[in-house]
Amino acid sequence: MTSQELFTRAQRVIPGGVNSPVRAFKSVEGTPVFMVKGSGALLTTADGRELIDFCGSWGPLILGHARREVVEAACAAAADGMTFGAATPREVEFAELLCELVPSFNMVRLVSSGTEAVMTALRIARGATGRRRLVKFAGCYHGHTDSMLVSAGSGLLTGGATSSAGVSEGVASEVFVAPYNDLAAVERIMGAHGGEIAAVIVEPVAANMGLVPPIPGFLEGLRAVTKKHGALLILDEVITGFRFGPTTYGALNGIVPDLTTLGKIIGGGMPLAAVGGRKDVMKCLAPLGPVYQAGTLSGNPVAVGAGMATLRILKEENPYPRIAALCGKLAAGLNRIAKDHGKSVSVVGLESLFTPFFMASAPADYDSAKKCDTKAYAAFFHAMLNAGIYLPPSQFEVGFVSAAHTEEHVASFLNAAEKWSSV
Ligand SMILES: Cc1ncc(COP(=O)(O)O)c(C=O)c1O
Repeated sequence: MTSQELFTRAQRVIPGGVNSPVRAFKSVEGTPVFMVKGSGALLTTADGRELIDFCGSWGPLILGHARREVVEAACAAAADGMTFGAATPREVEFAELLCELVPSFNMVRLVSSGTEAVMTALRIARGATGRRRLVKFAGCYHGHTDSMLVSAGSGLLTGGATSSAGVSEGVASEVFVAPYNDLAAVERIMGAHGGEIAAVIVEPVAANMGLVPPIPGFLEGLRAVTKKHGALLILDEVITGFRFGPTTYGALNGIVPDLTTLGKIIGGGMPLAAVGGRKDVMKCLAPLGPVYQAGTLSGNPVAVGAGMATLRILKEENPYPRIAALCGKLAAGLNRIAKDHGKSVSVVGLESLFTPFFMASAPADYDSAKKCDTKAYAAFFHAMLNAGIYLPPSQFEVGFVSAAHTEEHVASFLNAAEKWSSV
């Protein structure tokens, strides 16, 4: 069956034909490509095409698809029983490894998705501080828990407006939304409402409005202002955790948060995520403390097996410098091609992440990112897809390079971009 046939069938029984909205290709139009196989950096589609994958399942696949050791670890765990709903030795070992690799983790709780990790972190923050309000940043995505589906709109010192139907105004009114990279805005919010704020949550490198790195002093300033007002700092490292080194972005950059959320890479492609941090704060969680959190499949042994194998390989092989060099080549090459052909594109690259923003200069926050030419991105996306390159089907997502990519894959990317640019 072709992707088109599958999509037609899917739409009859799955809302929009997909189990997560961005997969529907709404922002680039056209028919979503159905995948049947992944191996290393390559995808095989239902239409029998082979594509070079620069989407990487949105982040987990830092080692590429179906890395042998990861698959073997998951299979070995599955053969011993898929789930017990009881404590297992594997999860102890995994929690110890996370606490060893992330210096700010005294304790960690395993969950099954990034959304769940964030939801738990926010509840811990409210339980630990006895406060109810939160600060987030426009354009940062933290999963689909109600309070995080709130965007800017009505000014900094008022509650945000909901960005999804079904989120109550009551929830939205508990969340202040500041522009990313705008420390002064957060200082103003904290100055006026500091005593009510349980936590400030931030992606240390914003990767859900395209790639927007923090400006110098932004994260350090958030650490200082939260400390001053007795609020917790939550670094949402669901994308950035283990992406820049075998630890968190916070640890690599000397930012010590109270809580950190992890997901994606730590599960090696399986549903696994975590929230970890300060012991006194983590001790608020049930059964030790009054903050409730639970999960039938939390710490699932198959997911932990895949995650453990992934983290061990990252720690032992340190593929990071090689991946960063490849991604640097890709970003610089695409910038050059765009410039040579008079295209208005600014490619932002950071280690293994990249975004070609279809605008003259790279954005520093969501308001500026929104000014991109999304139609031009869609045309680029389809030109690249036709040439065998699979990119994120949205201007506001990041591209991922993995340890399975090679110089040849980057050369193929740049050849495809040359073809696009000369049309
Ligand atoms: C920074 C960040 N936090 C949280 C999430 C939610 O994770 P999940 O999709 O596993 O629920 C995402 C997902 O992309 C994310 O990028």
